[in-house]
Amino acid sequence: MKSRSNWLLIAAAAVVIAHPTAQAQAPLDAEAIVVGAGLSGLAAAVEMGRAGVNVRIVDMNSVMGGHAVMAGGFAIADSPLQARLGYEDSPEKAYRDWMEWTEDGNAEWTRFYAENSREHIWDWLGDMNVEFIRIAGGWENSVPRFHHTFRGAVDVVRALYREALSLPSVSFDWNENVESLVVDGDRVAGVATRNTRTGEESTLRGRYVVLATGGFAGNIERVLANWRTDLPRPDRLLLGASPLAQGSGLDLATGAGASLKWMNRHYIYTNGIVDPRDPAQTLAITGGNGNSLWVNQQGLRFTNEDGRDKEILADLMVQNPTSYWSIFDEKSRDRFAMRGREWIKNRVDGHTVLDNPDAVVKANSLDAIAAETGLPAGPLKASVARFNELVASGRDTDFNRFASADNAPPTIDTPPYYAIEYFPMPRKSMGGVAVDLETRALDASGEPVPGLYAVGELTGSVGINGTHGMDGMFLGPALVTGRVAGQSISRLHAANNETLPLKAQTVEEPMPDPATWRADLDANALRALVDLDREGYWHFQISHELVLERSYECTMCHSARVPFAAIDNREHKLAQVNVCGNCHGR
Ligand SMILES: Cc1cc2nc3c(=O)[nH]c(=O)nc-3n(C[C@H](O)[C@H](O)[C@H](O)COP(=O)(O)OP(=O)(O)OC[C@H]3O[C@@H](n4cnc5c(N)ncnc54)[C@H](O)[C@@H]3O)c2cc1C
Ligand code: HEC
Ligand code: HEC
Repeated sequence: MKSRSNWLLIAAAAVVIAHPTAQAQAPLDAEAIVVGAGLSGLAAAVEMGRAGVNVRIVDMNSVMGGHAVMAGGFAIADSPLQARLGYEDSPEKAYRDWMEWTEDGNAEWTRFYAENSREHIWDWLGDMNVEFIRIAGGWENSVPRFHHTFRGAVDVVRALYREALSLPSVSFDWNENVESLVVDGDRVAGVATRNTRTGEESTLRGRYVVLATGGFAGNIERVLANWRTDLPRPDRLLLGASPLAQGSGLDLATGAGASLKWMNRHYIYTNGIVDPRDPAQTLAITGGNGNSLWVNQQGLRFTNEDGRDKEILADLMVQNPTSYWSIFDEKSRDRFAMRGREWIKNRVDGHTVLDNPDAVVKANSLDAIAAETGLPAGPLKASVARFNELVASGRDTDFNRFASADNAPPTIDTPPYYAIEYFPMPRKSMGGVAVDLETRALDASGEPVPGLYAVGELTGSVGINGTHGMDGMFLGPALVTGRVAGQSISRLHAANNETLPLKAQTVEEPMPDPATWRADLDANALRALVDLDREGYWHFQISHELVLERSYECTMCHSARVPFAAIDNREHKLAQVNVCGNCHGR
């Protein structure tokens, strides 16, 4: 990519307005530019690449996949696996369930999704050898619909990425942060990027730009600035999404005239524990114990611990402060389990958290628990006694958690006791760039911004979740909207039926001679590299910290095909993607 300053960019845009025809002849870097190589961007690129559209995917990260590498499953209605397992489903049933749960979900997209998820997700991925093997249920679904592959969504992005690498008209640029969109007159005509490693600034021109930059749940300030009007603000939110999920695409889109919608809808989880390993004490890890009793900071029970997540959130937001303690005893110790993404850095076993005094208060009496947590002893002991009384009676007349002895949890009476403090945390964004049913970005008057598309979590998953998030309704819509954008652009490409003046493709680096890869690097050399304070090496650093901590052999992942270097060639990238599963996925 050629370097060009922003100043020149603005000048170029001005020239365009004066001489539109001259600009139309200028060679483009690609027909379509996709910003973001997460699930939605990859789906768009595969769709377009197969239709012969020339595509450049630009990502600020050094690796593909986005959030999906940490994520679980997809919502699919009426799948062959459901039929095999005896779950009777239909698009109509799914539509009704989802609209009922979300209350204010986007009806048009919900209908489209209910009617097409099977073809768009199950069939399409099946053709790429992605296999869904199990389905989970959830509050919003009258039949189970939450479909999982073996390792989780990392399986899906790896399959899409392999497919994209096999398409000659699709190419990737890594470590390129898109800082603004190029606008010619009223039309979006490209992106201005800054390389996160070299600082080099470039411009890529294309006929269509697809923004696939993900949500903003990793940006606590932005979430709080757009807080729900129907619930009090929390005192403290932990970070429950990737630090990469800043919502930069929102600014790119509005900068080019697009409007935003539903910005105060967020999927807030209530099971965040402060990561004891995070010096800043802002990162959440997640885990829980199905046998526990929850009390607010006054020591009082405040919700049905087994209730629906949207109601737990509403119950928690009216507490002061908005955090709570989960209390259980030695009998229930084994019910505690960790789940969720950050656990990748830790042991899978929940007990390393239970035995970590920085994460959990453990003591031989409830008085000692009170003393260490700061909870008032009287109310805490009364809440536990009341809970035990309800368990013994077989009916939770206070919060309706159980209605028979069979469903009741065990009593809490066997020391040592455990107490874990929980905070709310934003996980997923349910608002963002306004789009139509073709994923064209819309301006404030509802007209498409020419040349601009937005997909995935950046659109708030097209409002399908309404105010109350659903399982699998982020990955699913990311894939579906990515495909819809890709199909829409592919149709225009076919209708235009012209040869675009495209710049020559950059020649890719050749494979190194297998005998000469830098096999001399060892753990000491790696330590030095990881410790360098370098922008653009976030994933290299965070992943190789783990390599060092776990004393992995380099050859577990590296070889002549995956050398110790930033690699930028199809064969290398194909080989490199085989090693992701050593850390991501179960
Ligand atoms: C821990 C966790 C678990 C989850 N589990 C589930 C689940 O089980 N089911 C479900 O449906 N959903 C789940 N989700 C949500 C789901 O993973 C995401 O909504 C989905 O993957 C979003 O895909 P996307 O393509 O829209 O964006 P992302 O995956 O966020 O990808 C965006 C990409 O754009 C790049 N980018 C961003 N800004 C720029 C820029 N300015 N310039 C260049 N590149 C940029 C990023 O580097 C990234 O690669 C989970 C989320 C988390 C955090
Ligand atoms: C479990 C898999 C795994 C192991 C083990 C591993 N690596 Fe890597 N390595 C990767 C992946 C994946 C990348 C690409 C990371 C990225 O770009 O973010 C990579 C990239 C690199 C890079 C290139 C960084 C850059 O972009 O400039 C170097 C250097 C490197 N590894 C050195 C080592 C050394 C030395 C060891 C052994 C001490 C090692 N790695 C062990 C998976 C691994
Ligand atoms: C040695 C372990 C290791 C390997 C191998 C590895 N990663 Fe990672 N990766 C991590 C860790 C650790 C994180 C940070 C997770 C966190 O937020 O704590 C991470 C984060 C990511 C993220 C950001 C996720 C998000 O939510 O924003 C992406 C994308 C990613 N990895 C992709 C890959 C890909 C693609 C590969 C294979 C080419 C790969 N990783 C290989 C350890 C690894």
